[in-house]
Amino acid sequence: MIFSRIAGTGGYVPGAPVSNDDLVARGINTSDAWIIERTGIRQRYIADGETTSQLSIKAAQRALEAAGCSAADIDLVVLATTTPDMTFPSTACLVQAELGVPAGATAFDVQAVCSGFVYALTIADKFIRSGSHKRALVIGAETMSRLIDWNDRSTCVLFGDGAGAVVLEASDQAGILSSALHADGSHSNILYASGAISAGQIAGSPFLYMDGQSVFKLAVRLLSDVAIEVLEQANMPQADLDWFIPHQANIRIMNSVAKRLELPAAKVVVTVDQHGNTSAASVPLALDAAIRDGRIQRGQSVLLQGVGGGFTWGAVLVRY
Ligand code: UT7
Repeated sequence: MIFSRIAGTGGYVPGAPVSNDDLVARGINTSDAWIIERTGIRQRYIADGETTSQLSIKAAQRALEAAGCSAADIDLVVLATTTPDMTFPSTACLVQAELGVPAGATAFDVQAVCSGFVYALTIADKFIRSGSHKRALVIGAETMSRLIDWNDRSTCVLFGDGAGAVVLEASDQAGILSSALHADGSHSNILYASGAISAGQIAGSPFLYMDGQSVFKLAVRLLSDVAIEVLEQANMPQADLDWFIPHQANIRIMNSVAKRLELPAAKVVVTVDQHGNTSAASVPLALDAAIRDGRIQRGQSVLLQGVGGGFTWGAVLVRY
């Protein structure tokens, strides 16, 4: 039987960190104390001209190096983003060409906003299990700063830019143990960026809108439910889970879900303090950080979770 396993991970954030006090200094009517208390965010990274594909390439190169393989060994690129370089071609195709993934490979973008990486990983796992592909680059990458209205303090302090990548390869050992992806478009009105190019103009708003409290409540419920779903699918008792990596949007959401799941804080990987909410990049960036600092060890179980605009949500249970 063919399974897929994570062979290596990589992450990249652009430029120097931008602290909460830096935002205050830029004239935003906020405070370090408010942002930390309400969100847990201490800093974020903002791309200065770097594109989503450029961030992706740097994260992918690190993942390839960690996996001990090269772009020539990749036959599938699945890239999750809400902030593609262009309407088309896909950012995945731009990354394929620039990295040197062979012509003729499969490459496409996935749009599931902050659940994007969990969607992309699940899709790549299914391709590999089917036997059609052997080694995938799965990337979550965003330049969310492009969608930010710096006059809206309720959203501009939350988001950051970055990219995370994994090399997922065929294996006779199960690496992806279970997964679940969900969507409910009836909640599209609480989190959206309506801007679209039409007839030579931007139709709708170019900025992200979020009803924070509605998103907060929904996120806690959906993340708790989908965690239980994938653990049950894999017949894994909650107590056996080694690491929990929920979407890094708000430390209060993460703590609420961990409490509902009766997971101790020590098992929760937190990078929202360092990166802010990087949408599709948040989960692979956190995964890479915890692997590189030695917390996540080979053979341990890791629950990855996304939730975001759409509404979309999902989880992947991994044996690293
Ligand atoms: O990635 C997709 C998923 N996204 C999320 O999961 C985000 C979910 N939502 C949240 O994380 C939180 O709802 C927020 C962090 C966005 C907001 O936290 P909150 O505790 O729900 O605050 P609030 O919206 O109820 O606002 C409380 C107060 C308001 O003032 P009043 O009306 O009480 O006087 C806001 O005007 O905080 C004010 N406020 C701010 N104050 C200082 C809002 N933004 C700021 C700010 N600095 N940046």
